[in-house]
Amino acid sequence: MTDAIVLQRDRGLLILQFNRPDKKNALTRAMYHQLAAALEQADADNTVNAVLIQGSSECFTAGNDIGDFLQQPPTDLDSPPFLFMKSLLNCRKPVIAGVAGAAVGIGTTLLLHCDLVYVSRDARLRMPFVNLGLCPEFGSSLILPRLLGHAKAAELLLLGEGFSGEQAAQWGIATQALDSGEAALAKAREVAERFETLAPGAVQISKQLMKSVDREQLRQVIEEEGALFTQRLRSPEAIAALSGFIARR
Ligand code: COA
Repeated sequence: MTDAIVLQRDRGLLILQFNRPDKKNALTRAMYHQLAAALEQADADNTVNAVLIQGSSECFTAGNDIGDFLQQPPTDLDSPPFLFMKSLLNCRKPVIAGVAGAAVGIGTTLLLHCDLVYVSRDARLRMPFVNLGLCPEFGSSLILPRLLGHAKAAELLLLGEGFSGEQAAQWGIATQALDSGEAALAKAREVAERFETLAPGAVQISKQLMKSVDREQLRQVIEEEGALFTQRLRSPEAIAALSGFIARR
């Protein structure tokens, strides 16, 4: 069996690639553990200058594995998705994302915590939390209204409406939209490699400064969202919606 997260090292760049194509790169508990360990390692390793997160040129990720949500729902802030997101939030190295195809649920949320995000114009992003009986996660209820205003953020978070890579770039969720999935991944790689030539100390301090203003408020919101999200996973609304997804397949 192939690894569902492929790790690749190219000089100072660590590449984390989702690789579960038969399930649209849906993230399992094991994949979260792999991602968290790799990010922690990258943070601690002085020879890593930057981290690139990507799926394939056809699909980023369909989000949390829905079967896992039903069978082994996260119970607390030490559950695998939280460990992964904690390691992403704590990563002092720049994190670049290359996104093509579907980026659903945590696949969109995680982009809000990357530093540079390159998407294909026709990428399909969506946060269908309410549609699944759930609620926003990992700071999206704070970050998106700030970025887009409440009325636009409500369309994404209350109605669960999808949006394109082109819109993500217009709204500041992504850095740039490219003409194809291949172009988005190539651009993300090219930019990630630029950190090879930039002073790592200056890059890390600059990232820290950019993130420090909101850090405490973000931590509080993430905790509150996390407690409610784990409760929602056990709600009849969520169990019906998640079981419905499985039953339709
Ligand atoms: N968890 C588990 N399996 C998933 C999955 C998920 N989040 N998303 C997709 N899959 C599986 C499907 O069950 C299917 O498996 P099967 O072939 O064994 O039946 C396979 O991946 C392909 O999915 P399919 O829906 O046929 O692909 P598509 O190209 O038509 O659509 C998506 C892709 C991502 C738009 C669609 O699969 C989807 O909406 N997935 C759910 C996303 C979601 O709600 N995530 C959780 C957010 S909290």
